[in-house]
Amino acid sequence: MSKKSILSLMRPTGKLHLGHYLGVLTNWVKLQEENDCYYGIADWHALTTKFDETDSLRQNTIEVLLDWLAAGIDPNKAKIYLQSLIPETAMLHIYLSMVTPNNWAERDPTLKDMVKIMKAKGSNEESLSYGLIGYPILMSADILNFDADFVPVGIDQVAHIEITRDIARRFNNIYKTDILKEPQPKLTEIPLLKGMDGNKMGKSFHNDIKISDDEETTEKRIMTAITDRSRLRKTDLGHPDECEVVYPYWKIFGSGEETEEIRCACEKGQIVCAECKKRLAKKVNEKMAPVREKRKFYENNLREVHDIITEGSKKAQIKAREVLDKVEKAVMVYR
Ligand code: TRP
Ligand code: SF4
Repeated sequence: MSKKSILSLMRPTGKLHLGHYLGVLTNWVKLQEENDCYYGIADWHALTTKFDETDSLRQNTIEVLLDWLAAGIDPNKAKIYLQSLIPETAMLHIYLSMVTPNNWAERDPTLKDMVKIMKAKGSNEESLSYGLIGYPILMSADILNFDADFVPVGIDQVAHIEITRDIARRFNNIYKTDILKEPQPKLTEIPLLKGMDGNKMGKSFHNDIKISDDEETTEKRIMTAITDRSRLRKTDLGHPDECEVVYPYWKIFGSGEETEEIRCACEKGQIVCAECKKRLAKKVNEKMAPVREKRKFYENNLREVHDIITEGSKKAQIKAREVLDKVEKAVMVYR
C-alpha cells in the first residue's frame, strides 16, 4: 500500500505554547513515521490579517520552526516548508480563485468569525482586505497543491476543508478531469489544555506556558494557576475534580500513581495548593527538558534551521510543480 499524504500548515504567530505542543505537534510527530507528510508555515496567511505588522514576521517564522524541530518534527521524515517559497501555490490559488463562486468564500463560517473578531478589535473596512476574503481559497491551494489525503486540523478549520473539497470537485467538473484530490479533515483530539486562568490556553490571554519558557518561568506561571475555588484555607479539604487547572495538568503530566497520590492528599487536606503546584511545575519541567534542550541546540545553529526550511521547501516544490503542471494543462493556458 502506498503511503498516505498528509499536509498541515500553521500561521507564524510566534513562540508556541504547551497546548500547541500536546495538541498538535506530538500528533504531527507520530504521523511523520508512516506517512508522506508536508508541514508548512503559512506566512502568506499571516499577511491576510497582519499585512501591516511585518516587522515580526521573520522572527515569528523562526520561532515556530524552532518549536517544531524541538518537538521532534524531523526534516528527514517530513517535508518542512515555507509557504512563500512555493510560488506554485500562489499560481494554483489564481486558478482556483477563478472557479470559486464569490459567495462560497463569503459564507465560510471560520472566515466570518475572523472578520467579526477583527471588527471587534477596531479594524475598519480598509483593513479587511481582498487577500483575507481569499483565505479559504489560498488554504485550498495549499492542500490541493500537494494531493493531500488527510489534513490534520482543529475543529475550527473543518469548514475550510469543506470548501477545499467543493473547489476540487468544481474544478474537476468544469475542466472534465480528476486531477484535484478531495482531502479529508483529520480531527486532532486535542486534550484541551487550559491556560493558568482556566480559559483556553492562548497567547492573547496571557495565560500560557511556552515550549521555550525556562524552568523558572514555568514554575512562576504554574504558581498563578487557579485551583479548587472552594478551598480557601489550607486545612480545607480539596476537591480535585473541581480543581480547574492544576489537577487536570497532573492527569496529563503525572504518572497514574502520582496523580492518585495527589488526589488522596488533596481530598484529605494533606497537601496545600502551593506545594501541589510546585511539584507539578517540577513534573512539567522534567517532561519538557529534552524538548527545550533540543530547542537550545537549534537556537545556537540557526544556519542549520535555515537550511532545513530551504531544503524542505525544495523537496515540497517538486510535488507542487507536478500538480500545477497538470492544472495548467487542464485549464489550457498557453505554455
Ligand atoms: N488556517 C490554518 C490555521 O489558522 C493554517 C493553514 C493554512 C492550514 N493553510 C493550511 C491548515 C492548509 C491546514 C491546511 O490554523
Ligand atoms: Fe488542586 Fe492540588 Fe490544590 Fe488539590 S491540592 S485543589 S489538586 S492544586
